[in-house]
Amino acid sequence: MSQVVTETMVRVENVHKSYGQGAAAVHALRGVSFEVPRGELVALKGRSGSGKTTLLNIVGGLDQPDEGSVHVDGSDLGGLGEDGLLALRRDRVGFVFQSFGLLPILTAAENVGVPMRLRRADPREREERVELLLSLVGLADHARQRPGELSGGQQQRVAIARALANDPVLLMADEPTGQLDAETGLAVMELLRAVVHSRRVTALVATHDAALLDLADRVLELRDGEVTEQ
Ligand SMILES: Nc1ncnc2c1ncn2[C@@H]1O[C@H](COP(=O)(O)OP(=O)(O)OP(=O)(O)O)[C@@H](O)[C@H]1O
Ligand SMILES: [Mg+2]
Repeated sequence: MSQVVTETMVRVENVHKSYGQGAAAVHALRGVSFEVPRGELVALKGRSGSGKTTLLNIVGGLDQPDEGSVHVDGSDLGGLGEDGLLALRRDRVGFVFQSFGLLPILTAAENVGVPMRLRRADPREREERVELLLSLVGLADHARQRPGELSGGQQQRVAIARALANDPVLLMADEPTGQLDAETGLAVMELLRAVVHSRRVTALVATHDAALLDLADRVLELRDGEVTEQ
């Protein structure tokens, strides 16, 4: 008899987060719980203001919940402290943003190399890995172009390569296709999916886009501060 073993990459338990106080308080998350197994592409949907960014920031260690707990790759984020969270974000989590977040004066290759410089990787190793990652996202021939000389879709592919630089176990993407046209957005999402499945990375992607939800292994919906699985 075969047995299915699921390793949990993200475990969120009863997370609450409010902004402001008293009558003006906004309860963005009201007891959110879910798990994401290793190697899955999970989409997070929900209308504007439903708490997607708030939740991604908490899972990625950029912000702390008021209540509840978050485990990433077996670590309890609540017990890591500032240095531990910094190390988690640098070594185990990759971030992709709607606005790409590339440094305009650096070339595509230099942008991809930034996270490796931050952890003082050997320059030789860094250059080899940058080349490999740019090939992975189909931009081997554009390594020396600056972001302003690349299309939106190409910039986002550079950002994905950069997010993969330190070989993260978890990729967090907040509306990664929000600034792209439908066709380019789909191509970027397909790339994310291919990366997730070929490298056994786990990805949590916030998106409004219905066409992209079909590419996810699972879809979670945020509504009224709670998460339900679709
Ligand atoms: N720093 C903040 N201060 C006060 N309120 C905030 C803050 N950040 C978020 N909020 C509120 O929390 C709620 C959730 O916001 P959040 O940005 O997480 O939504 P979202 O689902 O990402 O929306 P969008 O799809 O527009 O990006 C909103 O009501 C928002 O106004
Ligand atoms: Mg948001």
